[in-house]
Amino acid sequence: MNDTPAVRIRDLEKVFPVPLRRRQVVALRGLSLDIPAGHVYGLLGPNGAGKSTTLKIILGLVTPTSGTSEIFGIPSSQVASRTEVGFLPENPYFYKFLTGAETIAFYGKLCGLGGRKLQDRVKELLEIVGLTEAGDRRISGYSKGMLQRIGLAQALVHDPRLLILDEPTAGVDPAGSRQIRDLILQLKARGKTILLTSHLLEQVQEVCDSVGIMAKGHLVREGSLDLLTGITGQTEYLIENARPELQAEIAKLAAAHGAKLLSTKQPQLDLETLFLKATERTE
Ligand SMILES: Nc1ncnc2c1ncn2[C@@H]1O[C@H](COP(=O)(O)OP(=O)(O)O)[C@@H](O)[C@H]1O
Ligand SMILES: [Mg+2]
Repeated sequence: MNDTPAVRIRDLEKVFPVPLRRRQVVALRGLSLDIPAGHVYGLLGPNGAGKSTTLKIILGLVTPTSGTSEIFGIPSSQVASRTEVGFLPENPYFYKFLTGAETIAFYGKLCGLGGRKLQDRVKELLEIVGLTEAGDRRISGYSKGMLQRIGLAQALVHDPRLLILDEPTAGVDPAGSRQIRDLILQLKARGKTILLTSHLLEQVQEVCDSVGIMAKGHLVREGSLDLLTGITGQTEYLIENARPELQAEIAKLAAAHGAKLLSTKQPQLDLETLFLKATERTE
């Protein structure tokens, strides 16, 4: 049973009819993938590649034209497959007049929670997503990043084993997006399986164990990040206080061993780290 993947998709095809124009949109053409339990899997691809359609089929919200999808071994067509899943849609809609705490409580009630248990769960979730302070404020005053975190809390309300997140950091500023990525890493540490989509490649790199790159309805690459992005046959060194003489000697030594020094450069902060340092924000 432990080997049962969290998600298994086989040969999915989805054709959307466009009735008035008498033509069809082929959103998926033969998509297959497995997501092992406990993994963070990033489904990448440009807009229109078929990412959201794939998620909706896994969730049983859209019926495939052909092919199969299973969650922990149960076909997506069966209601039982959804008991272990939390979903953050691409553009979640919340009732603006409710507070953050009331919003989570609302979804908790939909999942059958109530009374003291629900109160405790709301408190716990606000803490997990870092919104304890803002919990009594109305959603209408929340930033996009805070809304996404309420969306995550909503997806977690019934403590599902699998989380499906459609573009969780889209439209969120760098600090907010950092918080969401940290949260994803915390959830992974607690043993959750997470399937997320993104068109922002660098954001996926630090949270995902493996990625699938989609284009025009199928996977064009798939594998672990190291495997996909590692450059074979090269080694990087980081040296402090290397004077030009030492650098020249390293180059000579490399050549003597039949190797070649390809580049020498000063490491730089990436723009995101610089941005976060310069704008350190507390909510
Ligand atoms: N309900 C629908 N009716 C018709 N076409 C759709 C529908 N949903 C998605 N599509 C089309 O399917 C393709 C894949 O869409 P989508 O899965 O939303 O891509 P992504 O999430 O990767 O941006 C697009 O060409 C889109 O226009
Ligand atoms: Mg989408």
